[in-house]
Amino acid sequence: MILVAGSANLDFVVRAPHIPSPGETVMGHDFKTFPGGKGANQAVACARAGGVPTTMLLALGDDTFAQPLEASLAAAGVSMHIKRCKDLPTGTAFICVSDGGENAIMVAPGANTALLPADLPPLQGISHLVMQLETPLETVAAYADAARTSGVFVVLNAAPAQTLPAALLASLDVLIVNQGELAIVADHGGSVDECLARLQVPCVVVTLGSQGSCARVNGVVTRQAAFNIQPVDTTGAGDTFVGSFVACLAQGQDIATALKTANAAGALACLTAGAQSSIPTRSEVALFLSQHA
Ligand code: RIB
Repeated sequence: MILVAGSANLDFVVRAPHIPSPGETVMGHDFKTFPGGKGANQAVACARAGGVPTTMLLALGDDTFAQPLEASLAAAGVSMHIKRCKDLPTGTAFICVSDGGENAIMVAPGANTALLPADLPPLQGISHLVMQLETPLETVAAYADAARTSGVFVVLNAAPAQTLPAALLASLDVLIVNQGELAIVADHGGSVDECLARLQVPCVVVTLGSQGSCARVNGVVTRQAAFNIQPVDTTGAGDTFVGSFVACLAQGQDIATALKTANAAGALACLTAGAQSSIPTRSEVALFLSQHA
């Protein structure tokens, strides 16, 4: 079973001609809410990828924003360990999506900040732990250490990026980042290869947008081209990549297959509005791959 430990947010999304610059007011077109949060998006992506059951550890407020988040996870088939917070609101994210499909996101983490080291459920039956950085860094580090000690495969999506303690990096089996996050984690402004050379994690995966993705596994780099699509909304595409990639690994697939499948799932996630609402099922990804062989 895959355990995703991380954030859940209700996304408040406005579409607009362009993303506002500092001090600018932009008239948007429409407003919608969607279930989101990097952790919950990745849990839904794992579950929709199929093959291995998915469970999620998350913290929610005791409020109406929590209900659609629980409903979306349950509908995707994700079982839940919920820490219910009386004194903190459910996490929210405020997202502007441009007509070109790009986004800018601001998160009010709320209850996500309440996830503590002691909240980790027993790891019996867990093969893979997946985390992000929208929950406290000390908690992420403690979970990674506990998982490593129990022989659980540890995956960190370092988003939003920050400098990571050496002990956390040493507990990881897989680090997944985009190019900007790679530069922050590697603390280096050079090329992808130069940044990769500074990281000792056994497997580092980098998503490269229209350039596809690559993975360096024990010194060998595997590259996968992007699929050519016209994005409607890129929100959650990176999370979809992460969930799909881990689901492939958990089923014993090789790195090249996992990269290609995750690229396809991430591309499909760009074709529909919203985060969890846009995450494809296993059969949708299989059909897309058969059409883009
Ligand atoms: O990665 C996309 C997600 O980032 C959104 O769903 C938002 O909630 C923020 O966590």
